[in-house]
Amino acid sequence: MSHLSSSEIRQKFLDYFKKNGHVVVPSSSLIPTDPSVLLTTAGMQQFKKYYTGEADPVKDFGSKNTTSIQKSFRTSDIDEVGDETHLTFFEMLGNFSFSGYFKKEAIGYAHEFITKELNFPISYVTIFSPEGGSASGGKGSSEVPRDEESAGIWKDLGVTDIREEGMHDVFWGPTGTSGPCGPTTEIYCKNVKGEDVEIWNLVFNEFFFPGSREELLAGTSGKKLEPLKQKGVDTGMGFERLAMIIQQKSSIFETDLFTPVFKILPEEMDEKTKRVFADHSRAVCFLISDGVRPSNKEAGYILRRLTRRLIAYQAKVEIEKVLKTIVENYGAFYKKLDIKTILSVFEDENTKFSKTLSTGLKELAKISEVDTKSAFRLYESFGLPYETIKEVSGAKAGKLSREEFDEEFKKHQEISRAGVGKKFGGHGLILNTGELKAVNEEELNKVLCLHTATHLLQRALREVLGPEVKQTGSDITAERTRFDYSFPRKLIPEEIKKVEDLVNEKIKEDLPVNFKEMSKGEAEKTGALFFFKEKYPDMVKVYFVGKDIKSAWSKEFCGGPHVDHTGIIGHFKISKEESIGSGQRRIKGVVSG
Ligand code: ALA
Repeated sequence: MSHLSSSEIRQKFLDYFKKNGHVVVPSSSLIPTDPSVLLTTAGMQQFKKYYTGEADPVKDFGSKNTTSIQKSFRTSDIDEVGDETHLTFFEMLGNFSFSGYFKKEAIGYAHEFITKELNFPISYVTIFSPEGGSASGGKGSSEVPRDEESAGIWKDLGVTDIREEGMHDVFWGPTGTSGPCGPTTEIYCKNVKGEDVEIWNLVFNEFFFPGSREELLAGTSGKKLEPLKQKGVDTGMGFERLAMIIQQKSSIFETDLFTPVFKILPEEMDEKTKRVFADHSRAVCFLISDGVRPSNKEAGYILRRLTRRLIAYQAKVEIEKVLKTIVENYGAFYKKLDIKTILSVFEDENTKFSKTLSTGLKELAKISEVDTKSAFRLYESFGLPYETIKEVSGAKAGKLSREEFDEEFKKHQEISRAGVGKKFGGHGLILNTGELKAVNEEELNKVLCLHTATHLLQRALREVLGPEVKQTGSDITAERTRFDYSFPRKLIPEEIKKVEDLVNEKIKEDLPVNFKEMSKGEAEKTGALFFFKEKYPDMVKVYFVGKDIKSAWSKEFCGGPHVDHTGIIGHFKISKEESIGSGQRRIKGVVSG
């Protein structure tokens, strides 16, 4: 059994690949250059153009083969943080080849590194098969044959447990709106508890897909996998998991990557909170040092969310000491970590958030019995974490349980995502509220325009036809909005024109769009329109178009997101008006920005 420290493992990895003809390339920033991806999620991102042949690796690196330890961030795992293996920020060890070598060498290196350099046994591996994995293997998989070659190479190396997986599990990419992709083979090792943990993913980039990963999996876009002119290798090994395996720990948080922070967290803090704290504080250090600042948008929003969760626990933790410890632990390898900036950004956000937090605590004081729903509302509206609520409320929250809170959280995930505006995946859908879906920035802008236009449309319909117009449904894609409402008859062309003109007038006025969060009762008093009252939680957002909520022309209960001001929408047009049943009508509308 080896007792390598995490620094030793990093060094061993880079040395091994250097010795085997790879050039060591520094990690790229967590803020990627590819605008269709929010944060860097994998080592290959900085090398995308070498796979597609747009850039020459020999010219830029002096070699077709590179290796790196990449700072990575995956928000898709944010709600999983607290278990044994999930993180937001993590380090990824990788080796890459741009038509320098392919499957035989890549598998050979990985096998040798794990079993010889680290002296650790491989439990099993997976290979791609169109029939592999669960029933939802993903369409398009039929285009790619079973990876016989990888299976053969593993067998020759003496690995006998070779399992087949399908499109969802062992087919990588593309990241962003298009890119290289291909079948993968994964390596699993046993942890100290005897459970299998996936540690290394070897991707064989053989294809280019001119769309997103979701489009590829759905198989309905009409887009086809194209063979890449030059084949490439992209591997990624989660560093924390590797350290957990090699250091024989039962969770990543027991490795030396986290123990310095754990040592200074208060003993009475429960394990899950400690893990969340350790993950988030580390992520915050790296995000700030790469230039992200708290805001309500994109990467800035993620940073804000992580920071605020830390702040909520702050009373009990010497946060400054935690941040300093992280920088001490990582500073030797990541020279960009800058404690001065980290502390000043953190302090700034702390000042801003403390106000909201104290409002939340006041709200909490007003509640006589804290149940799951009210606790969740306090969390959503004021950022009060479960632990704070539980602690501050004492006997009042006697019945409140972590399990039920987590369940409520899961139920609301879609809704809260809607409030936030985006599902921050490294690739795939960047917005999915149920009502609105977008796969990239361009679509996102379009659906935001259409969403705000839909609010203007409802308001205009009521102005022209009267208050009997009531929304019964809506659905927004990047192409159009579809608005269903109750009204007893067909609209005449003059009415349609009037509605369109009114919407366009409000677009021209370039009115600001904002929301205010309040109780359902208060929201109703503002005159805001709503769908079914029962559908909404006790605290709601009212989106309003105009200078202030009182005088606003349009007000609706809504999770968002919307454009910041109406001028962005450009021009609105009703493309169809039809009946969808007795007393039920449907309008389809389009915008051109
Ligand atoms: N790019 C691959 C991954 O991140 C290696 O899993």
